[in-house]
Amino acid sequence: MNSVYEKVLGCYESIKDKIPFTPKVALVLGSGLGNYADTMDVKAEIDYHDIKDFPISTVPGHAGKFIFGYVDKVPVVCMKGRVHFYEGYPISDVVLPTRLMKMMGAEILFLTNASGGLNPEYKAGDFMMLTDHISIFAPNPLIGQNIDELGTRFPDMSQVYDLDLQEKIRKAAKDNDIKLQEGIYCQLTGPSFESPAEIKLLGKLAVDTVGMSTVVEAIAANHMGMKICGISCVCNLAAGISETPLTHEEVQEAGKAAAPLFTKLITESIKSF
Ligand code: HPA
Repeated sequence: MNSVYEKVLGCYESIKDKIPFTPKVALVLGSGLGNYADTMDVKAEIDYHDIKDFPISTVPGHAGKFIFGYVDKVPVVCMKGRVHFYEGYPISDVVLPTRLMKMMGAEILFLTNASGGLNPEYKAGDFMMLTDHISIFAPNPLIGQNIDELGTRFPDMSQVYDLDLQEKIRKAAKDNDIKLQEGIYCQLTGPSFESPAEIKLLGKLAVDTVGMSTVVEAIAANHMGMKICGISCVCNLAAGISETPLTHEEVQEAGKAAAPLFTKLITESIKSF
């Protein structure tokens, strides 16, 4: 059997008796949203350390566990902490949790992240719903022997971010007076932030926000036929647009400051799914 698939199966086997329900939504929490689960009706938690061979993040502020709970009546599995490619994990490990959550039964993948804003209309603290992405600067997680059990060798990518979910998020934002931008997110590998010249280049490529996660997870989920949506919290203006040097602390602070409104937007969106 494909060794990448075998590893996901091994993770699933090691925790399947601790999963309290079949989740409908798999929610990945980006920087600043770590406390989202406090708003959920939590039924169980599984520490990443207790999952066989599970990749564990080394980034400060990215502690790791799956949290199972209800958002209103919707069963959700939530990832508090994710691994990034820049931590040195193979890309198949970066998307392993996404595959695992699909194996748990999740139909919808809701991705959140922190990003830098390129679009001149955007301000730090804005939320941007992903309508599409650019993946060409990050390694494709489907490289290697195809996992036929999960999906096809050459998946279509014409509509990665589900239109029906986009409409529901748009409505949730509008009904709750939350400003919502819509645009294209680009994942780079990091861990260094971009140079101003790189940001200028990305601007010419119609990129609206830039970050170090999300797209590879969306590619793996699309491969498996999940419905996908994503919201990025614009934590800073990108390099060369921002007047000050970028720091991880600034990103975390901005994420924290945006968290109450972000939490509201996520909750109201999930309630409508
Ligand atoms: N660049 C890349 N990743 C980021 C940024 C940025 O400006 N802000 C938050 N994550």
